[in-house]
Amino acid sequence: MRTHTCGELTAQHIGNTVTLVGWTNKWRDHGGVVFIDLRDRSGIVQIVFSPEIDRELHGAAHRIRNEFVLQVEGKVRERPEGTVNESIPTGEVEVVVNVLTVLNECKPLPFMVDDETDASESLRYRHRYLDLRRPLIQKNIVIRHRASKAFREYLDNEGFLEIETPMLTKSTPEGARDYLVPSRTNPGHFFALPQSPQIFKQILMVSGLEKYYQIVKCFRDEDLRADRQPEFTQVDLEMSFVNREDVMAVTEGMIKKVCADTIGMELRDSFQHLTYSEAMDRFGCDKPDLRFELELKDVSDIVGQSSFKVFLDTLNRGGIVKGLNAKGLADYSRKDLDDLTGVVQDYGAKGLAWIKVKDKVESPIAKFFSEESLQALTSRLEAEKGDLMLFVADSPDVTNDCLARLRNEMGRRLGLVRDGVYEFAWITDFPLFEWNEDEKRYEAKHHPFTSPMADDLASFTSIDSSELKTAHSKLAHVRAQAYDLVLNGYEIGGGSIRIHKKEVQDRMFQLLNISSDEASAKFGFLLEALEYGAPPHGGIALGLDRLVMIMAGASSIRDVIAFPKTQKAVCPLSSAPSEVDPKQLKELSIKLDIVE
Ligand code: AMO
Ligand code: AMP
Repeated sequence: MRTHTCGELTAQHIGNTVTLVGWTNKWRDHGGVVFIDLRDRSGIVQIVFSPEIDRELHGAAHRIRNEFVLQVEGKVRERPEGTVNESIPTGEVEVVVNVLTVLNECKPLPFMVDDETDASESLRYRHRYLDLRRPLIQKNIVIRHRASKAFREYLDNEGFLEIETPMLTKSTPEGARDYLVPSRTNPGHFFALPQSPQIFKQILMVSGLEKYYQIVKCFRDEDLRADRQPEFTQVDLEMSFVNREDVMAVTEGMIKKVCADTIGMELRDSFQHLTYSEAMDRFGCDKPDLRFELELKDVSDIVGQSSFKVFLDTLNRGGIVKGLNAKGLADYSRKDLDDLTGVVQDYGAKGLAWIKVKDKVESPIAKFFSEESLQALTSRLEAEKGDLMLFVADSPDVTNDCLARLRNEMGRRLGLVRDGVYEFAWITDFPLFEWNEDEKRYEAKHHPFTSPMADDLASFTSIDSSELKTAHSKLAHVRAQAYDLVLNGYEIGGGSIRIHKKEVQDRMFQLLNISSDEASAKFGFLLEALEYGAPPHGGIALGLDRLVMIMAGASSIRDVIAFPKTQKAVCPLSSAPSEVDPKQLKELSIKLDIVE
């Protein structure tokens, strides 16, 4: 239906007769001449209808409205002097139309199809087909396509096989709630949609397939955030006969190709490595944004010498006090400080202590400190005149979490974040277990198939069951052969070397207080497979949506997913989830008893 795309026309086409198709992006009438910006996927070009050239055609052009679908034939000409539009690639030319076909009309629009929009998310998603016409979102979809293609090419070259795993399956232990699917043929029984293909990819290794990958949907019913969707996509891979360096090397090569092919970014350096404990010490979290330096400092030893009761009580309860230096903010007002206090309180801190470094120090808590202690704090935080020191005292978890968030906030406020850079880091040596304070028990920090580090295997095996009931037992020090990949403050991937010996896996379940009956009911098919010559193996899964979000410069993964769900996990386009026909429920042997 066309000879050219809208976006490809340049000065070199001047004089050509072309046929174009596309949508009416913008319509305007200047002194009797109608100008339309015609848009297709490739871009926008200006088309012109002048009454002097064809009165009837000009009349028809007057009846065109935004988003009408047109086919036009016309001649490319140079735009008159002074009307060149440098902001678009086709800005030097326009097409004078001599044949117009309206291929379809468009109802009045619920919102303008424009990169700049103030339409609400629910309105945009309800008409996602219009929202997806916005060039900005189309650009994201193209980036996503290129990324998937680069992943496939790389993995194919490395000898990986793309293998599909079931969607109708059993629960996988990634820690979120499952989406369930009732079975009609087995009343009262349910499939779970996979939280990841974890168990199946391990079974593929037992099967001797050696290198597996899949770009795959995963389903997790968890609280949503800007970087979380109930269904999202992983680039999932698994390899046999490898150690963690092998998996990290493959991943690094893959990410480098993807960045080069997708956004033309050449990453030369190897990714940094940080151990989990180093990341927690210095940045307060296991996904630090390394685009800026600002680090947290533990000052527990110094404040232990003070008479400030809040700090002393915290230390006595096994807590810690850490601080950071907000450079140059000594003139922050009461209100600014209250604002910052709000930031940390949202994440559980009871307060935010501050010390302004001026000619003298200024702070409501200064009176509790000796001159030497104040000096020691200033030098620990490398603060100088004009700086603002901020402190949180709480349990290690709360202190680190709050200060990590405050660090990100200060990074933004102080303009420390280097734009346009990609700071990748591997976080390694994670703890194998994590204490669940609510349930007073240990959980797997990643998933229960993660192998302990060889150095910690002895304590893993010998730990006494009395250690399972306290937060600070030897168990907390067992490290995992796990690694996360972090980019600019986002966790974009995670994986591990797996347990491939049945007795180690049994021991893992024992330490997690999962009975062998429960383990075999849930994961028996994997446990059994491990007994039939399972090779050493390991792998990783990357969050495709998150990586594409960062490469596209988007602020939410919803902007890189064609049909996303809202914050409330619904799809306004299809109105899913929705009620179903009672007949369908009957077939599924399901009776509803909705508890409000
Ligand atoms: P994990 O649970 O860390 O590991 O998931 C891997 C990566 O997937 C992304 N991700 C998400 N992205 C969007 N929305 C979500 N709700 C969401 N949840 C996770 C993150 C994360 O790093 N089976 C293991 C991998 C392995 O051990 O090989 C797994 O699923 O970027
Ligand atoms: P108060 O004695 O409660 O008025 O607190 C004095 C200062 O200490 C205030 O600036 C509080 O915000 C701060 N503060 C209180 N609790 C904590 C805490 N757990 N960590 C850091 N600062 C705190």
